[in-house]
Formats: sequence, C-alpha cells, structure tokens
Amino acid sequence: MGRRGAGITAVAGWVPPTVLTNFHLEKFVETSDTWIRERTGIRERRILVERDRTTSDMAVYAIHQLLRKRGLAPEDIDLVICCTVTPDHVFPATANIICDKAGLRRAWGFDLEAACSGFLYGLACAVQFVQNGMYERVLVVGAERMSAIMNYHDRTTCVIFGDGAGVVLVEPVVPELGVQVIRLYSDGSGRHALFQKAGGALHPPTIETVLNREHYVYQEGRAVFGHAVRRFTEVIEEVMDVAGLRSEEIDWLVPHQANLRIIKAVARTLRLPMEKVMVNIHKFGNTTSATIPLCLAEWEPRLRTGDRLILATFGGGFTWGAIYLRWAYDGSLVPESGRILDAFPGEGTANGQTEEKNSD
Ligand SMILES: CC(C)(COP(=O)(O)OP(=O)(O)OC[C@H]1O[C@@H](n2cnc3c(N)ncnc32)[C@H](O)[C@@H]1OP(=O)(O)O)[C@@H](O)C(=O)NCCC(=O)NCCS
Repeated sequence: MGRRGAGITAVAGWVPPTVLTNFHLEKFVETSDTWIRERTGIRERRILVERDRTTSDMAVYAIHQLLRKRGLAPEDIDLVICCTVTPDHVFPATANIICDKAGLRRAWGFDLEAACSGFLYGLACAVQFVQNGMYERVLVVGAERMSAIMNYHDRTTCVIFGDGAGVVLVEPVVPELGVQVIRLYSDGSGRHALFQKAGGALHPPTIETVLNREHYVYQEGRAVFGHAVRRFTEVIEEVMDVAGLRSEEIDWLVPHQANLRIIKAVARTLRLPMEKVMVNIHKFGNTTSATIPLCLAEWEPRLRTGDRLILATFGGGFTWGAIYLRWAYDGSLVPESGRILDAFPGEGTANGQTEEKNSD
C-alpha cells in the first residue's frame, strides 16, 4: 500500500497588540527609520509587553483561532510540535504547557529548536507522523517572544526581531496534494555567528553573564547575510530540480522573513516576480519560527487547491531548508480567512480595536 499524503489543512496567526515602530527605536539606540527601512525592509514589529503572558499564550491564541476556523474541538488534536527559541522555560517543553493551556487533552507534544528554520523542521516531522499513519491531526506551531532575549541597547539586533505566533494543522490529504519535496540542512560550524552566548549548559547564568549581556541574541549580521543569500537560493533550486519545477510554475514563494534585501535577492536569482512572494517583514519584523505560518495565515484567502508553494528558510545554527507543497484547500472559503488576530481574547487592543481586527 502506498503512503498517504500529508498537507496543511488549516492555518492561523496571532501577534501582540503593542506596536514598536522604528521611530520608537530611535529613542533607545543610535539608528534611524530610514536606515532600518533601507537595510532591512522593516517599519514596525509587535512585542509582547505583558509580564503575565508569554510564548505559550501566543501559541494558544493562534491555536484557538485555528480550531474555530476549522470547526475542531481541542480533543481532536493528536500532537503539538512547538518550534521556538524562546520557550517559556528551559524545561519542561513549551509544547506541554500549550497542550495544558489550550485544553488539548488527548495530545502530547515536544519542542523543536532550529532557530529561524524551526517551522520547516517541525513541518517535516509532522508530515512523517501523518504520512506513516500514526496520527491524523498534528499542529505545528512557530511561537516566539524574541523581545525576551533582545538587547534594546544593541542596534544591530533589536531593530530586526519581533514577537508573534503562527500555527498550521497537518492532516492526511490525497498524495497529489500536500508536501511533495523536503530538503533540510544544518552546519554547526556557523554556531557562533548567530546565538545566545549564555544560559545553556556551556555557560550557565552567573552575575557575570548577566552583566556582560550574554543572555541576548548575538549576531554577526554581515556574515549571516552572505550565508543566507547563498543557502536560500541553493536549497530552493535543489527542491525545484527534484520536483521538476520551473520558476513560472511556482504560485507562491514563502520565504523566512529575515531581511527584505535577502528576499529580493533570492527572488531575482530565481526570476520570480515579487507579486508571487509573501512578505510581511515590514509590519512584523523577523519573528523567527513564526514568520512562515504568519505569512500563510495572511495569504490564506488567496490560496487555492493545487497551488504550488515553496517554503524556504535560513537561520542560526546554521540551519536551512525548503519544502515544496501543493496547497490542499480553497482558502477563500474559510471563515476568518486572512485575519491575523492582535488582541487578547475578550479584550480590545490599545487602539480600542477588537479581537477580530486584521493587523493590516
Ligand atoms: C543585520 C543587518 C540588517 C545589518 O545590515 P548590513 O547592511 O549588513 O550592515 P552592517 O552589519 O554591514 O553594518 C553597516 C554599518 O551600519 C551600522 N549599523 C548596524 N545596525 C545599525 C542600525 N540599526 N542603525 C544604524 N546603523 C547601524 C553598523 O555599525 C555599520 O557601521 P560601520 O560601517 O561604521 O561599522 C544585515 O546584515 C542582516 O540582515 N543580516 C542577516 C540577518 C539574517 O538573515 N539572519 C538570519 C536569519 S534570522
């Protein structure tokens, strides 16, 4: 018997209501709106300032929207894969906390850490569980509270990252739809170019590590930029080659949102018009594992059954990869399609908007 297919059958996203603009950042560090926009494409990002809420809560808000959109009960979910570099705790896994808070009583879960490539690694795992028949419904969550590990005195990193959560549901689909080709890579020799120096078992927290600001994101931006452009392009070309896809056959490129210049360079090399490239970096910044599912959630109304999508990423580790999939449903028929929620359940935003507001 041939293996069954596995595809994304629902998607949702949530971002915090608090907007941190480039103009706000001009007050913390020596930078300018113009520099940030021209070098990264970012205008603003969302940050979770509420002290009593964190990564797991953002994931739960996104999951609740997904279940509502898809008409599912929490008990329908078998497994949660939480992709994050900002877990609630070092342990236990944030996936366990998400299952508890979201009432997913039948599900178990685990965390997956692959920096900005987390979501693609997680999606690849979910697909295996569904294709081999072990599970029917797997949630892959990308949830990040990057503001928790951001040094707002370091202009080279604090302008880039934002907070948010995106989630997809992976279910059985006919083999012609869903995930078709997966290519994932890592190269640990790049680990010192983008990482958090202290807080792990190599350098546990001490007074010195705190005073030296070693619990924040450290990045050698220029080095990472060069690797990202090369690896992104290589892996997308590899996936296209394996799938026998020509540029003009691709309906959507869904790139990790690290830098608009990287995205444009990759699109140019692949001869893909920017109209076919999902971009939300201008309003959310780099939300690490959440960028790709947030893009899918926003573009959902425009996605049609059979559309050819390439999801691609590059991140700390180094880690990188690409997945080619055929979209499994008509996004225009889904209730709440395209809405990225940005209010706490039962509350309006600071601007007086309700939970139903689109983030645009
Ligand atoms: C971080 C990044 C935006 C920096 O842009 P860049 O064009 O490479 O800039 P550089 O690091 O070469 O720095 C150029 C100058 O701008 C300065 N600069 C850096 N950040 C600045 C800021 N926010 N505002 C103003 N000036 C800034 C630097 O200090 C440097 O000054 P100098 O020439 O006097 O030394 C860019 O390198 C990048 O996006 N890197 C990859 C990120 C990525 O893909 N991450 C992996 C996935 S998460």
